[in-house]
Amino acid sequence: MARTRTQVAIVGAGPAGLLLGQLLHRAGIDATILERRSAEYVLGRIRAGVLEQGTVDVLEQAGVAARLHAEGLVHEGVEIGFEGRRHRIALKSLVGKAVTVYGQTEMTRDLMEARAACGARTVYEAGDVALHDWAGSHPRVTFRHGGESHEIDCDFIAGCDGYHGVSRASVPLERRQEFSREYPFGWLGVLADVPPPWSELIYANSARGFALASLRSPTRVRCYVQCSLQDKVEQWSDARFWDEFRRRMGEEVADLVTLAPSIEKSIAPLRSYVVEPLRFGRLFLAGDAAHIVPPTGAKGLNLAVSDVYYLHEALRDHYREGTERPLDEYSPRCLRRIWKAERFSWWMTRQLHLFPGDAFALRMQRTELEYLFDSHAAQFSMAENYVGLPFDEAARA
Ligand code: FAD
Ligand code: PHB
Repeated sequence: MARTRTQVAIVGAGPAGLLLGQLLHRAGIDATILERRSAEYVLGRIRAGVLEQGTVDVLEQAGVAARLHAEGLVHEGVEIGFEGRRHRIALKSLVGKAVTVYGQTEMTRDLMEARAACGARTVYEAGDVALHDWAGSHPRVTFRHGGESHEIDCDFIAGCDGYHGVSRASVPLERRQEFSREYPFGWLGVLADVPPPWSELIYANSARGFALASLRSPTRVRCYVQCSLQDKVEQWSDARFWDEFRRRMGEEVADLVTLAPSIEKSIAPLRSYVVEPLRFGRLFLAGDAAHIVPPTGAKGLNLAVSDVYYLHEALRDHYREGTERPLDEYSPRCLRRIWKAERFSWWMTRQLHLFPGDAFALRMQRTELEYLFDSHAAQFSMAENYVGLPFDEAARA
C-alpha cells in the first residue's frame, strides 16, 4: 500500500473539487484531488452555462478568470415567453448586476490548467475511493490506481463528488436528514454549432411544455425542451427536437431557428434535494454532493461555487486561528444560501413547466406570470435571485 499525506483530501474533480483545490492552493493549504473518471471524460460532460456575478468574482479571486473575461458573454437581461409574447426581465437596470454565459466545461478546463500549472496532485481514474475515520481526528482516504492500493492521511476530507458520489453515502442515514422533491418530467438538451439567433436566454412556458433557448458562444446554441421521464434520447431525432422546440418558442423565434445537427443530446431528470448538515466531524460536503436544484434557475453550478468559497474560508481560518469556530459555521452558513436557491429554482420550475391535470395550478401559473410581467417589485425579486444573492447577505444569521 502506497501511503501519502495531505492537509485536505478532495473527492471529485468537478467544478466544486477543482475550485476548492485552487482556492486552498492560493491560501497555502495543500490538497490532493481524487477523481473516479478520466480528465477527458470530465471535460466531455455538457452541463451548466450561466454564471452569477458572485461566481465570476470568486473565479477572479482564484486567478482563473482571464479566458472567462475574454470569451464569456455578459447578459444584462433574460426573456420569458408566454402565450405568444416575450417579456424581458432587465436584470442590469433592475438590480445593477448581469450574468455571464460561459460553459461549465470551459470553467473546468481553466481550473484543470491552473492546477496542472501549480503542480498540485490530482489522481484521475481513482477506483474504489473509500473514506475512513472522518468522525475521529485522523481521517484517511483509500483508493486504487494503476493496479495498486493507495492511502492518503489527511486533516480533512472534502466530499465534492456529486449527487451519486461516495462521500455522502459514507455517512450513516441516522446522522443526516434529507429533503427532496422529484418533478414528473425531465429536460432534453441539444448542443449545436450554429450562431444563436437570440441575444439573451429565452425561457418559454407553452401549452406543449417548457422550452429554453440558451447558448454557449457566438457560434454555439444550447436548447432544451421539457420531456417525459420515460423518453429515451434515441426517440428524439434532431428533426423532432427542433420541430418541438420551434412550436414551444412561438412563431417569431421559430422563423429564426436553423435545423442544425446536434453535437450532443441528453436527458436529465429534475430534482430538488438538500442534505443536512454539511459537516460530519472532519468530512465536509459541497456542491451536488450536498444538494440538487432543478436547472430552471441556473443555480446548480453557482451554488457549488459558493459552497467551496465558504469551505475554503473555513479551512483557511481554522488553520490560522487553530479553533473549531470557522468549521462549525460552515454548514449553517451554506445552508442559508442553499435554501434560498432551492426556493428560487423550485419557483422558476413551477411557473414555467406544464404540470398536466391540475387546472387550479394552471390558473395560478398564469396569474403568477401576469403579475411578474406587470409588477416592478416582482421583476426585481426575480432579477435579484437570478443574478445571485450576495454571498454574505444570504449567509447572515
Ligand atoms: P459534479 O460536477 O457532479 O462533479 C463531481 C465529480 O465527482 C465528478 O467528476 C465525478 O466523476 C466525481 N465522482 C463521483 N463519484 C466519485 C467517487 N466515488 N470517487 C471519486 N470521484 C467521484 N446546472 C445548471 O445550472 N444548468 C444545467 O444545464 C445543468 N445541467 C446538468 C446536467 C446534468 C446531467 C447534471 C448531472 C447536472 C447539471 N447541472 C446543471 C448542475 C451542475 O452541472 C452541477 O450543479 C455542477 O456540476 C456541480 O458541480 P460539482 O462539482 O458539485 O459536481
Ligand atoms: C444552459 O445553457 O445549459 C442553461 C442555461 C440556463 C438554465 C439552465 C441551463 O437555467
